[in-house]
Amino acid sequence: MEAATGLVGRDRELRRARETLAKGANLLITGTAGIGKTALLRHLYQELAPERPCLWVAEGTAKEQALELARQTHERIGLVLPEHVVPNRYIARARREGVQWEWVKRSLGRLPARECTALAAASLAAADRPGLVFVESLEVPPSQAEQFAAVLEVAQVAAAMDELNRRQRIRKLLWRFPERERIELQPLQQEATREVVGRWLDAHPVEFEPPQVREAFVRAVEQDSSGVPAAIEGMLEQAASERTVTWKHVRAFSHEAGTRFLDMTPVVIVAVAVIIAARYIGLGANSTELYVLAGIGMGLAVAVRFFVMPMMGRKN
Ligand SMILES: Nc1ncnc2c1ncn2[C@@H]1O[C@H](COP(=O)(O)OP(=O)(O)OP(=O)(O)O)[C@@H](O)[C@H]1O
Ligand SMILES: [Mg+2]
Repeated sequence: MEAATGLVGRDRELRRARETLAKGANLLITGTAGIGKTALLRHLYQELAPERPCLWVAEGTAKEQALELARQTHERIGLVLPEHVVPNRYIARARREGVQWEWVKRSLGRLPARECTALAAASLAAADRPGLVFVESLEVPPSQAEQFAAVLEVAQVAAAMDELNRRQRIRKLLWRFPERERIELQPLQQEATREVVGRWLDAHPVEFEPPQVREAFVRAVEQDSSGVPAAIEGMLEQAASERTVTWKHVRAFSHEAGTRFLDMTPVVIVAVAVIIAARYIGLGANSTELYVLAGIGMGLAVAVRFFVMPMMGRKN
């Protein structure tokens, strides 16, 4: 989504992240699923790549990550390789003009991921210009965490992780990220959500019928997404999949958000109090009608409490 809208509402976080990285410290971005960790890291990566050698390690298996690390080190830093990974037929040329990635990628792919990472790490350590390694997600199994530990020993790292992560498993990595420098992403503010929706609709025109539906739709997204970018994205895609978005669609959309704030409990409590009072008044005034009426009311109140309200709650 951010490809269409740009990164919205993260100026403060970006500023802090830039400061941290400029100091040479490692940076950790935390936050719940879909809050925009990858988008923020990616933005920093694109911004810094022209200035210094930056590597991007996407989520993936240990093997994929190790090979990517080696490839990007080769491309941006210079990968120093032992001759045994260069196929015989290329050795002479490799000595003369250096190694080409195509020659070695298969033999590097056959190495255990740990060894492949160690080669990249050795080259990162020896680099004239210090590399900056972006790690899309630190949430990895222990063997993969070992790989990241090897990288963290030799290079500056900017990484993301879910705050709900079982941190125990990657404690070995976390001490490398100074607590003060961590950035926890919060949901987007309402204005930022509105801005994202506006920019997205500019890039992907959606027909609203009648036109006023557009504003109602924007409000529904603001409320329903609670500012979580992945949720905003889901709703925008849903809208885009309709030929025309009408009141009906928006109502279906905001239905859940609507009921969440419509808490009927106080009304029911007051109604029950009134009904009980009516029963006593009925008794005192010797009015059978009022007494019976209050009894029926009581029954209705119980029905509302036990049957209707739980159904409303379930929609949350
Ligand atoms: N500030 C933002 N402005 C515009 N789009 C954003 C913003 N933050 C995130 N997005 C978009 O929202 C979607 C979800 O964001 P992203 O994938 O970065 O979340 P995440 O925290 O990395 O999720 P996960 O926990 O699943 O890895 C992406 O399509 C992304 O482009
Ligand atoms: Mg992510």
